Amino acid sequence: MNYIETMKTRRSVRTYLREPISKSDLDKITKITKDITNPFDAGTRLCLVDNETADERLGTYGMMRGAKTFIVGCVAPGDMNIEGFGYVFEKAILNLTAMGLGTCWLGGTFKRGVFARAAKLTDGEIIAAVMPVGHINEKRTVLERIVANGAGARKRIDFSELFFDGNFETSLELPEGDLRTCLQMVRIGPSASNKQPWRIVKVGDNLHFYLAKTPGYAGNIAYGFEMQRIDMGIAACQFEHAARELGLKGGIVLSDPKIPTKFEYSFTWQG
Ligand SMILES: Cc1cc2nc3c(=O)[nH]c(=O)nc-3n(C[C@H](O)[C@H](O)[C@H](O)COP(=O)(O)O)c2cc1C
Repeated sequence: MNYIETMKTRRSVRTYLREPISKSDLDKITKITKDITNPFDAGTRLCLVDNETADERLGTYGMMRGAKTFIVGCVAPGDMNIEGFGYVFEKAILNLTAMGLGTCWLGGTFKRGVFARAAKLTDGEIIAAVMPVGHINEKRTVLERIVANGAGARKRIDFSELFFDGNFETSLELPEGDLRTCLQMVRIGPSASNKQPWRIVKVGDNLHFYLAKTPGYAGNIAYGFEMQRIDMGIAACQFEHAARELGLKGGIVLSDPKIPTKFEYSFTWQG
């Protein structure tokens, strides 16, 4: 599959057709949920559940119209577990997008207890997010249009305010080319409430990824983990897959350059 093209077509889908997913697609989805590894050693478990077979109704407070099939994203404790989870779930989303299916990250608006029971959550595991997966209904509901417009779904922060050169005072000037494309893929990625909290500073061949936490953001307080750490994992997934596709050399490491900043260091792409 072509990751860059897929990243460009992915969007959050909140209205689904009633048409069920075929058996052969379900088999492919099951494989996708099992095969994805991550550079942060997070213990992730993706569990496919369905409203047809679940004991209780897998509710999303009406936010995901027509959705019947879901993937529950479970993660075990660990230092970079939330980032690793973000990487894995986003990679799953890209693979499902490439199959022509619709998905949407769901961090808040789902019945946590019901999904936890359906996924048979084990001790220590938490649900970091879930996603519906299904056939896209191009006719969006009024609610979907409001939600998508409310979060300004297509809007992204300017390149110059996200990416920096040497320190966080100097914007990165980068001509069109492979590295710029990789950063653009980070920029167009999904994020919780579309806050786009990723900031990147380039030092030599290394790119250091930081989290610009949104002050008072409910998603960082309500669920016992900071939801915006997921967005950093998404950034890692988008960047790494674009870089691999374009043949850029490098890899993800943890190597804090201790640059003075109010942002929180997350990880480094060592080029
Ligand atoms: C961690 C995370 C949690 C999210 N939670 C929700 C949610 O609970 N409900 C929802 O409708 N969208 C949710 N989204 C989708 C974002 O609102 C969406 O990605 C963003 O607005 C950008 O739009 P796009 O995905 O169409 O590019 C979430 C996204 C992420 C990454």
